[in-house]
Amino acid sequence: MAFGRSSKVALLQKVPLFRALSRRQLEEIAQLADEIDIASGRRLATAGETGYELFMIVEGKAAVKTRGRTVSLGPGDFFGEMSLIDRGPRSATVEAATDMRLLVVGNREFWRLLDAAPPLVVKIMRTLSQRVRDAEASASR
Ligand code: CMP
Repeated sequence: MAFGRSSKVALLQKVPLFRALSRRQLEEIAQLADEIDIASGRRLATAGETGYELFMIVEGKAAVKTRGRTVSLGPGDFFGEMSLIDRGPRSATVEAATDMRLLVVGNREFWRLLDAAPPLVVKIMRTLSQRVRDAEASASR
């Protein structure tokens, strides 16, 4: 189901991740991202495999499974950035824990997105730092 660009912008405005962005930046994102609906239980990333997309959650919840631990992500959260940034394999397996609505960007669009919306770069850096801290904390537990 394809949404027009203006309804995609309306969707983006509901996501806290994008709150700091201008209308123009939201329009650029709407152009770069595809909207997909995913059924509960679907696997979106597999640990160890090559990853080609970043996913941003609009509705629903995802379960991130890392070394014996499950982290829940919800609306406004994103995942899949690590493989795009360092071209390494997926660091965790991610599955839809409920039915989900997501925005997806491929590798090339990901880098264009960061150029188009610098506040997202800051947001992604912050989130990555938190994920490293989480991983460190759970490794030393
Ligand atoms: P990537 O490695 O591309 O694919 C799996 C994704 O799971 C990863 O990017 C992150 O987006 C996400 N992820 C990995 N570890 C954590 C964590 N500790 N907390 C939240 N999300 C994570």
